[in-house]
Amino acid sequence: MNRKYRKAIIAGNWKMNMTASEVRPYIEELRSLMPRTKTCETVLCVPSLLLPALLKATKESRIAAGGEDVSSHESGAYTGEVSAAMLSDLGVKYCIVGHSERRQYHQESDALVNAKIRQLVAHSINPIICVGETLEQREAGLTMDRIAYEVKSALYGMEDLRLRHCVIAYEPIWAIGTGRTATAEQAEEVCCGIRTLIRSMFGARQARALSILYGGSMNAENAEELLAQPDVDGGLIGGASLKPAEFSKILKATDQGQ
Ligand code: PGA
Repeated sequence: MNRKYRKAIIAGNWKMNMTASEVRPYIEELRSLMPRTKTCETVLCVPSLLLPALLKATKESRIAAGGEDVSSHESGAYTGEVSAAMLSDLGVKYCIVGHSERRQYHQESDALVNAKIRQLVAHSINPIICVGETLEQREAGLTMDRIAYEVKSALYGMEDLRLRHCVIAYEPIWAIGTGRTATAEQAEEVCCGIRTLIRSMFGARQARALSILYGGSMNAENAEELLAQPDVDGGLIGGASLKPAEFSKILKATDQGQ
């Protein structure tokens, strides 16, 4: 983490867990456990249906609300979809895009991910852009090739000025929900590689200011070591964000990582 140049961000990803009525008790407990001083930007990404309850419960708190997905279209006949305009109108500040579960189970292509990111930045929502390699790609030595391809496709056509809205999350697919975390060295190697790539695409200033997160079985035990890496600016946390006690320990670990 390098607080001098960029924001530390800890984002929870609830996925398809929890219900609207569980939101308030969760937030009350989390707020009672959160560090008193602001250590990092705290974000909770939840299903669209839970966003109104989350926004209500987090009013006047330091917790920002995030979506888990968005439509690639502006508006129109797209049954079941949620637009960036709808998220922005509610007060949503972040939205995950390109998560490997969406790429895998919903056949989301790199082009679709790019279109979603364009929608988000057009509505001033910060996309949390997920990229990551499979175990086969890692074992074949193709990790950085895959990551570079995903980053370039995600940011295709992005104007320099809009990049400051973006957050990139490195999430090795083999580490998501498996309990198998990347080592701090592996996480740093890829996050640093992403920053080098961004430098070549957008220049040194943009690269220095970009927050790059690690995600994949991050928890209260391993967070401190991961967050101590110079190019790991925070975490995207699935399972360990479902319990306020666990999540708040990760927030506290950002203190040590600076
Ligand atoms: P996990 O999920 O922390 O449960 O591995 C991370 C993610 O999918 O964002």
